[in-house]
Amino acid sequence: MAGSTFGTIFKVTTWGESHGPAIGAVVDGCPAGLPLDESSLKPYMERRRPNGGKLSTKRVEPDNVEILSGVYEGLTTGAPISLLIRSTDQHSSDYDALKEVCRPGHADFGFDAKFGIRDHRGGGRSSARETAARVAAGGIALIALGRLGVRFRTEVTAIGGVPFSRTEEIDALLDSLKAAGDSIGSEVECTVSGFPAGIGDPVFDKLDALLGQALFSIGAVKAVEIGDGRKVSLMRGSKNNDPFHAECGRIETVSNHAGGILGGISNGSDIRIHVYFKPTPSISLPQDTVTRSGENIRLGIRGRHDPVIAPRAAVVVEAMTGLVLFDGLLRNMTSRMSLVEKFYRLQ
Ligand SMILES: Cc1cc2nc3c(=O)[nH]c(=O)nc-3n(C[C@H](O)[C@H](O)[C@H](O)COP(=O)(O)O)c2cc1C
Repeated sequence: MAGSTFGTIFKVTTWGESHGPAIGAVVDGCPAGLPLDESSLKPYMERRRPNGGKLSTKRVEPDNVEILSGVYEGLTTGAPISLLIRSTDQHSSDYDALKEVCRPGHADFGFDAKFGIRDHRGGGRSSARETAARVAAGGIALIALGRLGVRFRTEVTAIGGVPFSRTEEIDALLDSLKAAGDSIGSEVECTVSGFPAGIGDPVFDKLDALLGQALFSIGAVKAVEIGDGRKVSLMRGSKNNDPFHAECGRIETVSNHAGGILGGISNGSDIRIHVYFKPTPSISLPQDTVTRSGENIRLGIRGRHDPVIAPRAAVVVEAMTGLVLFDGLLRNMTSRMSLVEKFYRLQ
């Protein structure tokens, strides 16, 4: 199975299945000397962890990250960092009835078509449990970016089109979904401030292209917007262009319709990202589907599921954004001969 590795210098490989004994990640290419321990990753893991409330699945794992390598006396050594997250709350028998079934909205049919064999328990490799490993690995990138003054603000903006700030309406919506055995779509916004200008590579590795790949690789993501996103198709050039302005030798844009990226390269403005999630595919409402042998059946899915995805996925969006941006900073260190000369003259 290819496709489990992401990044160029700061390279992350995730591994593990939903109901295996553990999942994890290996981070290769992290510079030596970054302060890191298990507790520094905890705040990120807590944001993804289900809390048993209305907004998340009842599968509650401790999600403690064990760092097995690459850190010595609280500092990264430059060696591969191996991150292990044990799974303790699997209910595999919930999935017995689904072994031969293609769940609508899930990866089952595609996995069967491609591999002919799959671990059906909890969705196996396609499970959102895999995102715990991304958050642990992305957490390292976010810690490194934080040391450089890069700040993230990531929040759920809407559930089923209702602004997330309208608590009572959201509560009532979730209650009605639960009663109906249904789920709903949702949105996350991530704004990055303090990211320097000049990062990203033209053509295939444009910063927005890499962010798109990173964010579309999160399960259930169906749209990603940078800056004003799809609204730009309704705008005139005179409104969409962000005028430049110089003040005391500092060049800035007056507006930020572009979302901080022009020509695939950051321009120093806030990077504005909006991510749209489809409704959770596992619902208890009966749906038409087929078995692997081609029998038509009606299916109602039991088990524990998130009724809506954005609340737990917000930190996954932040982690994937962090991976792209920190990797971009590292890649940029070879962009000019003067940078190479400066670095080696200082040694
Ligand atoms: C944080 C997060 C939590 C999710 N929780 C669930 C869940 O509880 N039940 C479910 O059916 N899908 C859940 N999903 C979505 C599925 O993993 C995803 O829709 C499925 O694997 C099919 O992939 P695709 O939607 O990318 O095509 C979650 C996704 C994320 C990012």
